[in-house]
Amino acid sequence: MRTVILAIGLTTTLGAPAFAEGVVDARAAQMSANGAAAAVSGGMLKGEIPYSPAVGKAAIAAFDATALSFGLMFPDGATSKEASPKIWEDRAGFDAELAKFQEATAAAVKAAGKAGPADLDAFKAAVQPVLGTCKSCHEHYRLDN
Ligand code: HEC
Repeated sequence: MRTVILAIGLTTTLGAPAFAEGVVDARAAQMSANGAAAAVSGGMLKGEIPYSPAVGKAAIAAFDATALSFGLMFPDGATSKEASPKIWEDRAGFDAELAKFQEATAAAVKAAGKAGPADLDAFKAAVQPVLGTCKSCHEHYRLDN
């Protein structure tokens, strides 16, 4: 019995910081994927990369995956150099930014359909509202490093 209690105690004290570190890494990796999808989207919008419906769809899917899981990766204490303390101080405001991001990606997924946005104009209409939400969240909740 004592061993069990001790084991639980150890897991709680040792497990918490390791968990926080894991989520910080996971969310940074996910935001990097977000950045990569934004770079491909920007390249196609500027005509530097030829437009492809499949690539447009993949970029939108990457944004959507991030929008759905990003908010789960900010438990108490999971601070980082880049994450503003305001995320925890003003959780409602952060959640509102997340909700805007999720609404925009859900609409883009719907617009993309099965085969992806048919042409560059359709892609632009679908993806621009998503890209607009990056800036507004970063302005308030991401620190420059
Ligand atoms: C709801 C808020 C929010 C939205 C929306 C958001 N970001 Fe972020 N982003 C953050 C925060 C917070 C960090 C810092 C996370 C950390 O390192 O702890 C970050 C970090 C990043 C990073 C740096 C990743 C790294 O290597 O550390 C990139 C790139 C990025 N975001 C791109 C984007 C793009 C592109 C979009 C839009 C498609 C976007 N973000 C939308 C909050 C957001």
